[in-house]
Amino acid sequence: MIKKEIIDQIRERADIVQIISEYVPLKKAGKYYRALCPFHSEKSPSFYVSQERQIYHCFGCEASGSVFTFIMAYEKITFPEAIKKLAEKLGITIQTETIPYCYQPLLDACEFATNFFSAELRKSNKAMEYVKKRKINPDTVARFRLGYAPSGNVLFGTAKKHGFSEEILIKAGLIVKKDTGYYDWFYDRLIFPVFSLSGKVIGFGARVLDDTKEPKYLNSPETKIFKKSENLYGLFQSKNYLYNNPPILVEGNFDLLSLVNHGINNVVAPLGTAFTNEQALLLRRFNNRLIIVFDADDAGKNATLRVVETCLKVNLEPQILTLPDNFDPDKYINAYGKESFNNLLKSPLDFIDFLIKIRNFNSIFTKQVQLKEILDYISLMEGNMTQELYLNKVAEVFKVAKENLINEIRKKISNRGVLPTSKTVKTAGTNIIEGQLLALIVNIPEYALMAKQELPLEAFSSNETQAIAQIVYNNVESNKCSIAQIIDSIEDEGLKKKIANLSFQITAQPRREEFEQKLIKFKASWIYQKMLIAKKQGDEALSAKLSLEHYELRKRLTQNKK
Ligand code: CTP
Ligand code: MN
Repeated sequence: MIKKEIIDQIRERADIVQIISEYVPLKKAGKYYRALCPFHSEKSPSFYVSQERQIYHCFGCEASGSVFTFIMAYEKITFPEAIKKLAEKLGITIQTETIPYCYQPLLDACEFATNFFSAELRKSNKAMEYVKKRKINPDTVARFRLGYAPSGNVLFGTAKKHGFSEEILIKAGLIVKKDTGYYDWFYDRLIFPVFSLSGKVIGFGARVLDDTKEPKYLNSPETKIFKKSENLYGLFQSKNYLYNNPPILVEGNFDLLSLVNHGINNVVAPLGTAFTNEQALLLRRFNNRLIIVFDADDAGKNATLRVVETCLKVNLEPQILTLPDNFDPDKYINAYGKESFNNLLKSPLDFIDFLIKIRNFNSIFTKQVQLKEILDYISLMEGNMTQELYLNKVAEVFKVAKENLINEIRKKISNRGVLPTSKTVKTAGTNIIEGQLLALIVNIPEYALMAKQELPLEAFSSNETQAIAQIVYNNVESNKCSIAQIIDSIEDEGLKKKIANLSFQITAQPRREEFEQKLIKFKASWIYQKMLIAKKQGDEALSAKLSLEHYELRKRLTQNKK
């Protein structure tokens, strides 16, 4: 990890206008700078940079962010790589690897082992035969640095001779200590090195050559540098392809290698464990879609649904390719070729169609069970736009009124207690006052503080506006409230865009009293709405209380005017 202080230091020193000018010619336009957007093609400039706030936003394609996200998006590199690049430009020295420097000996040991295994593969006839039988070509072997672990503790002996201590080799997961001595962790297996995002080998997967032996796969144990839940097999090799093509998630290492062999490069695989939130977030840095292609059997279907769940929770759009019975991607591409696979890729299913396809759908009763299941998935989504789109589809497919679906979702969410129950799913867009208010609190910490004291999150009208207010409220009291910093801390792309957009919407800062007026007006209208609802529901006590509150607010409004 790069230290936060370093990141802040870079943030202070890097002027966004100066940095972006190195990539695109910026012209001064009022208080902003403007250019043709480098992220989409356009004829008149809609890409704006604010020096004051150190952010950019394109009103055409909505690309937005800080100096860091600009470098990431433009150069197609990761956050740590962007930091490194900026640090170089600014002459700031940082440690370059995201893995702490103290683990360098473990990385060295893994690198040594990778070279050792790879030389052993070339030496071993039976391992070479196996690779050939699985149709993996030499280029792919080299790119993925495949290897072979021989029997007889040869790795331990050789590594020792090269100065690696038992302690380091154990910590790197390469040997184990038993009563009788030290032993290689892997023997007589085909080796799949696992790479970090920056290309360092951090651990290994290993498969038997002889299918009668058990277990079929053995992986490195978890070490200080190898966390299975935070890495993906093949991501280092595929990452540059993922901006233009959504990642294809397959189950097995051989599925991945076979697709790559046929020139399909945007593939990743979990590391023998369930697909995790961390992995989903990792992939979302590159693309907001994920195509799942698991085995066609029941286990594969259930695993697919678990991946769907994880995706929906982190706002990654899952799509599913289903293969004919008894096929996995490896078998499929070797049987039918690239073109046929690419044809499948043209029409992936969304998760609703996938559920409909795999579930029984032939009576009203089963239909209802199925509908419930689909709503369970939809309720996991917090970004209301996508939720909305999925709901439209369900309403259409199942021929039920959308209002009923929305009510169901509300019930589910309130049972979980995650979000406030009122107004969670809202059809209409944010009203104008609310938009102005948000723009102001997003940008002016003093006003954010006032809003925080006056307006609970519930007063905002949609999931999205609540989420924005929440982010602002959370940051306003720590000193982490420069808008560029807030934007960098948001993982949800949609929200990030929205906030950047809002930042460019205020042209002049209103006086404090003016702002207070707006705030109270907004609050009053929210209380008024609440009162109407209470009245309608026949809750006299509540409606009286709210009515009084509304009156007090109106009084404040007129007093302020004086
Ligand atoms: N896996 C594992 N431990 C096991 C079995 C599987 O870690 N005991 C992981 C491996 O990463 C493997 C993946 O789960 O690649 C999927 O398993 P499987 O489909 O059996 O592997 P394939 O690589 O497809 O192997 P093959 O095609 O040779 O059967
Ligand atoms: Mn397989």
